[in-house]
Amino acid sequence: MNRLQGKIAIVTGASSGFGRSIALSYASEGASVIVSDIHETPNQGGFEGNAKLTTTAAIKEARGNAHYVACDVTQQDQVANLVHEAVRAFGRLDVMVNNAGIYRAGKLAHEFSVEDLDACFNVNVKGTWFGCQEAIKVFLRQVSGGNIVNIVSTAGLQGHPKQSVYNVSKGAAANLTRCLAIEYGRNKVRVNGICPTYAKTSLTRALFDDKDFDKAFTDAIPLGRWGEVQDIANLAVFLASDESSYIHGDLIRIDGGETLCRFSV
Ligand SMILES: NC(=O)c1ccc[n+]([C@@H]2O[C@H](COP(=O)([O-])OP(=O)(O)OC[C@H]3O[C@@H](n4cnc5c(N)ncnc54)[C@H](O)[C@@H]3O)[C@@H](O)[C@H]2O)c1
Repeated sequence: MNRLQGKIAIVTGASSGFGRSIALSYASEGASVIVSDIHETPNQGGFEGNAKLTTTAAIKEARGNAHYVACDVTQQDQVANLVHEAVRAFGRLDVMVNNAGIYRAGKLAHEFSVEDLDACFNVNVKGTWFGCQEAIKVFLRQVSGGNIVNIVSTAGLQGHPKQSVYNVSKGAAANLTRCLAIEYGRNKVRVNGICPTYAKTSLTRALFDDKDFDKAFTDAIPLGRWGEVQDIANLAVFLASDESSYIHGDLIRIDGGETLCRFSV
């Protein structure tokens, strides 16, 4: 229950899905969490059990410590303000989780618009970049350094059909994770990425509700099930904790074995 006791963590995109689950888990492990998103209410169509409560309210109801700061991660000044607010409120920052992301799929590469490409790059690449950059500026001033957890995807590690704009953005986020690990390890800044396959959130609701897709997907996963947000949150807790202190620059697959075999969906 105290694996993150005393740590100060920012989670972007924390109103829904993975971000919400990570924020709740961090708080339950003793962290003070800066919950951040473009809107405070959970996305429609998600799988949150207590969707009437904001993430901050849910954390407070469980007697955790949380503070909401609105932030669109595509805007560098807003990300700088988010990090500034965390330091102003808590005196330092220990963990930055760059989770906010969007998905675009269903077209071949020649059919995607430049708007789809820009949207994926703005949130998934620039948003992650800004989060890393602003957190690192604080970490370099701290004797204790800091810890970055980027929520990437198996889409950042391999090709998938009909989602090229998403895959190239996640590929960039994966390589950013590696670059930063090389550049800042000596400054006590640890950087890792989490690479889930499809898990049940508002982002994948349409796929989950498509019974043909659901069957083909679960058939292709050796563990035979979708990921759950808690699976990702459990790994995010481990990576933020001192238990993982020698894990650095890694892109950890959390995919029920998907990437071991041919993905046929
Ligand atoms: N769900 C999956 O199957 C899956 C698999 C692999 C990776 N991912 C990645 O996990 C992360 C979280 O996805 P999710 O499934 O929880 O999605 P989600 O849609 O349920 O939640 C994403 C959250 O990010 C927020 N967000 C979107 N754009 C933002 C912006 N510009 N600034 C700040 N916040 C913004 C949304 O408001 C939302 O609350 C994303 O980076 C996604 O690419 C998801």
